[in-house]
Amino acid sequence: MVTLGMLITSTNLHAQTTLKEAFKNDFLVGVAINQNQFNNADQRGDPIIKAQFNAISPENILKWQSVQPTPDGYDFTEADQYVEFGESNHMTTVGHTLVWHNQTPRWVFQDANGRPLSGTNAADRELLLQRMHDHIQTVVGRYKGRIQIWDVVNEALQDNGQLRKSPWEKIIGDDYIEKAFQYAHEADPAAILRYNDYSLENEAKRNGAIALIKKLQAEGIPVTAIGLQDHAKMDWPTVEQEDATISAFAALGLKVMITELDVNVLGGARTAEITEMANQGGTNVYNNGLPPDVQQALAKRYADLFGVFAKHHGAVSLVTFWGVTDGDSWLNRPGRMNHPLLFDRAGRPKPAFQAVVQVGLRQSAAK
Ligand code: GLA
Repeated sequence: MVTLGMLITSTNLHAQTTLKEAFKNDFLVGVAINQNQFNNADQRGDPIIKAQFNAISPENILKWQSVQPTPDGYDFTEADQYVEFGESNHMTTVGHTLVWHNQTPRWVFQDANGRPLSGTNAADRELLLQRMHDHIQTVVGRYKGRIQIWDVVNEALQDNGQLRKSPWEKIIGDDYIEKAFQYAHEADPAAILRYNDYSLENEAKRNGAIALIKKLQAEGIPVTAIGLQDHAKMDWPTVEQEDATISAFAALGLKVMITELDVNVLGGARTAEITEMANQGGTNVYNNGLPPDVQQALAKRYADLFGVFAKHHGAVSLVTFWGVTDGDSWLNRPGRMNHPLLFDRAGRPKPAFQAVVQVGLRQSAAK
């Protein structure tokens, strides 16, 4: 049912410069979408997606557990719908994610009897490499030429910049990363291949990622883009950290992409603490919406971040939000209503939306 609020929202949106227009000379503006959205069933979200964005990422449906839940059981029903949605709306379509330690079924790291594969057993290494190869070949191969950008390896680093001791690393060894990129390149030589991670704005982790990328480049491994997830907070990363991080990766010759942008207005407070604050009537809990001063602070925060992205428009080729409206965000938990995106729960553009568009328009005017 179309309500008056939705009509007003869509009228407003049509009258305004859109995100993709505001940055058309700078970078693509993307959004992570869910199943209702790529099935055109989200009456609030779909008009926003189609009007505002020219790139999409799949929030969950291309993760290993979704496409290959069992050893022989690929299921591409939803992934096919997602890719068709991108094509019919002429959007750059991202694949996320091939090799990760989360949302990967347990069987991947076990033998046929459910025994964990071991890093000290050469046959186990071969078995896991074979599984990785088959998975990448099948998934990337299926969408060859239709998915333009792949997150090949996700979150391989720890905060200290050392490789994470994930099952991939423990069973195969450090070179699982090389292998993943090689297999992806083999399956679609034209695809842009990303290394994607969070907190790369922090120096230790950033230095670890730079060392990793340099090593891969020296070995001739086809890593062509870096994904900065940018699950941001109101006070992290600083503008200086963001600026230095983009510069550092651009200097390696990589395309730089902001892959999972949102701004957590609840910061690091844990759910229990937030519930407690709410019980005590705390004013820093936003279960009834963002107060005007916080709304403005969020707008400024977004403008500051986009100021940095726009400054690096030659290096930054895509900025993707992790969700359409605040209600879609993974940052919501029971008792913990978050407001991290540019559109509120009713699909109305927030002051942060206007602030971001203004950055784009100022950037175009300066050219
Ligand atoms: C990571 C993953 C995303 C998503 C987010 C939020 O950043 O890359 O796919 O799962 O966590 O859960």
